[in-house]
Amino acid sequence: MQLFDVYPLNDITIVKAKGSYVWDQEGQQYLDLYGGHAVISIGHTHPHYVQRITDQLNKIGFYSNSVHIGLQTELADKLGKVSGRPDYQLFLCNSGAEANENAMKLASFHNGRKKVVAFTKSFHGRTSLAVAVTDNPAIVAPVNQTDNVIFLPFNDEEALEACFLKQGDQISSVIIEGIQGVGGINEASASFLQKISSLCKTHNSVFIADSVQCGYGRSGKFFSHDHAGVDADIYTMAKGMGNGFPVAGIMIAPHLKAKHGMLGTTFGGNYLACAAALAVLEVIEAEKLIANAASTGHYLMEALKKLPLVKNVRGKGLMIGFDVPESLKDLRKNLLFQQHVFTGEAKPNVIRLLPSLALRKKDADEFLEAIEEEIGQVSGALKPVN
Ligand SMILES: Cc1ncc(COP(=O)(O)O)c(C=O)c1O
Repeated sequence: MQLFDVYPLNDITIVKAKGSYVWDQEGQQYLDLYGGHAVISIGHTHPHYVQRITDQLNKIGFYSNSVHIGLQTELADKLGKVSGRPDYQLFLCNSGAEANENAMKLASFHNGRKKVVAFTKSFHGRTSLAVAVTDNPAIVAPVNQTDNVIFLPFNDEEALEACFLKQGDQISSVIIEGIQGVGGINEASASFLQKISSLCKTHNSVFIADSVQCGYGRSGKFFSHDHAGVDADIYTMAKGMGNGFPVAGIMIAPHLKAKHGMLGTTFGGNYLACAAALAVLEVIEAEKLIANAASTGHYLMEALKKLPLVKNVRGKGLMIGFDVPESLKDLRKNLLFQQHVFTGEAKPNVIRLLPSLALRKKDADEFLEAIEEEIGQVSGALKPVN
């Protein structure tokens, strides 16, 4: 049987990984500034993570959500503490799209309404409602199309106010990434997030903070929306939560009440997923990785701003984007195949950096040297990094 050919692949086979590095089958080492698409939070094959999952597998890997699973409570306690929201409630699922799907569904159960507000350049996943609130018609199948979604311009407070003024009583939820990832590293302004928060409160709508990519410490705070000093009603999480083990969840404010049967999943919250997620939070705490994301990210951004041809360096913590001119259109490819550095991209001509939160300054320097060399070959005239 052939694989269903939906992914444009780099011709590389990764067989081994450690920290911020991966190796291919020929033994070539690569610096990983992509983190397998923002998934690697604590570093590849962290020994505590490997040990905790291995130990768990030797005890029990799975039983259904029909019995008490103590690890779920342990995870909820830990997550409440690390995120600074001990009074929220946790529902566990398996992927980012599923987390968003459940968040919008829960909002709709809560207020009985149908409309969801989303924003230009958003990406929220590929399942039915998650893809419907994603601003990319190319991935929305006819069966996913719905009149229930209202797209508004990102960071446009006037448009948001006008929308609530006109139909606030129909808006079930507003969903927004604190920093858009797939859209090209675009930060929601603090005042925009504050406006969403206050309009949602006034109109009994639900504020959903999609933290699938920008959350879990990547921005230098637990949720990137925290930079605006707001509390969302629901936070959706995935990617970094399991450091590669498929685990996702939604954190739900206390005023949203649960009812038996309203949400559910077979695999969500299984023993192995909880062990992985607990190991991740334990390492984040013990190694102070959120502070590291803030400081290493700041260091990297300041150095990038000094490079010729690199424009509009933006982001927070270790979620960084920058624009490159047409003359550097092959930069990402060259970084990968000439310099052996993985980076991410967003169309057109945006490079995205989404490394492990444990990225060290010396890893950052290695990347800066690589990118300097590539830019030097194009521009000929290089300024020093420091
Ligand atoms: C902001 C955001 N939300 C949701 C998703 C969907 O997550 P998943 O691919 O785990 O379904 C992604 C994936 O890239 C994302 O970046």
